[in-house]
Amino acid sequence: MKNFLIVGSGLFGAVFAHEAAKRENKVTIIEKRDHIAGNVYSKEVDGIQVHEYGAHIFHTSNKKVWDYVQQFAEFNRYTNSPVANYKGQMYNLPFNMNTFNEMWGIRTPQEALAKINEQRREMAGKEPKNLEEQAISLIGRDIYEKLIKGYTEKQWGRPCTELPAFIIKRLPVRLIYDNNYFNDDYQGIPIGGYTKMIEKMLDHPNITVKLNTDFFDKRDEYLKNYDKIVYTGMIDRFFDYKLGELEYRSLCFETEEKNIGNYQGNAVINYTEAEIPYTRIIEHKHFEFGKGDPNKTIITREYPADWHRGDEPYYPVNNDRNNQLYAKYAKYAELAKKQDKVIFGGRLGQYKYYNMDQVIEAALNAVHNEFGD
Ligand code: FDA
Repeated sequence: MKNFLIVGSGLFGAVFAHEAAKRENKVTIIEKRDHIAGNVYSKEVDGIQVHEYGAHIFHTSNKKVWDYVQQFAEFNRYTNSPVANYKGQMYNLPFNMNTFNEMWGIRTPQEALAKINEQRREMAGKEPKNLEEQAISLIGRDIYEKLIKGYTEKQWGRPCTELPAFIIKRLPVRLIYDNNYFNDDYQGIPIGGYTKMIEKMLDHPNITVKLNTDFFDKRDEYLKNYDKIVYTGMIDRFFDYKLGELEYRSLCFETEEKNIGNYQGNAVINYTEAEIPYTRIIEHKHFEFGKGDPNKTIITREYPADWHRGDEPYYPVNNDRNNQLYAKYAKYAELAKKQDKVIFGGRLGQYKYYNMDQVIEAALNAVHNEFGD
């Protein structure tokens, strides 16, 4: 039996805690926020599950992960079908026959393909040097200017001409009338919310959770008193930024209660013009098909933001500079692992743009490495 300290109660920490406790180890989780569940945290307001840190839609083609989460929650059949608002004109996403019909009035896959190829010709024979050129080479100028340019510039805080081409590797084009955003086999939202799902993972007599507790307030004590630490916070912070700071993107959320039953008719509407400062509005009740108070709704505007020390680091910025710096931190992390003391995991601990299913898979791999079963 080992005495584990888990830093962070997000999905990585919760899965590891559950599996360690099940194998008769003692687990203490410390969480610096005043609630569990990390960024998947949801809170009930007016009978509506509010996704406090942005829209979270569970999707995966990993059957093992899908089966794994079923033991903690029943999932509804929510299918992500976001809509884009460009200067008041609505377009279906992802780019599919509905979008092409709305954009150009065309009806058949052959017409759509011909139109896209005609638009892409602008970049024929040229090597894209930035994100703008890359997007035009993949999908053409009309879709780039109306549905990609403003949104991406807001997300990254820089003009597309100054962003590297690799950010958009491919832009899948669907020549069918299908607005399902994800291509995955499984998709849904846990009924009753993500927090309930994490509560269930942590519901074990071997697990103790301490909220409002920051690892760095008593780091030396923790390192001395526990057999092993599972750390899911920022890896550069763990090593006192001694090799330099990794970059992150942050977000601001503006949540509002409205005295109407249905504000925008869809869970996710993206605002793709540069002049509107937010990237999207989430209307939470549509994740659960209108559950909750029929006369009220909760909406959240999402604003991308630069990250400075002390802000919430929502997204790692996986460009060359940061990936090289992370590789150096990862060498230190490897050393700590070899000394059998610290496991680094999750979006911040591994500096990876993990989706929920990927973070669960990573946690299960860490469990396998630790316990060998
Ligand atoms: P997470 O950040 O959730 O947990 C880390 C925890 O550690 C936090 O609770 C933090 O407070 C705590 N912590 C950090 N430092 C600490 C310290 N020093 N002391 C104590 N505690 C500390 N994925 C997906 O599949 N579908 C989706 O739709 C979305 N949508 C989405 C929207 C937005 C806006 C974001 C930012 C992310 C998504 N994701 C997503 C990704 C998803 O949120 C992500 O995969 C998981 O939440 C990652 O879980 P982790 O446990 O790694 O980190």
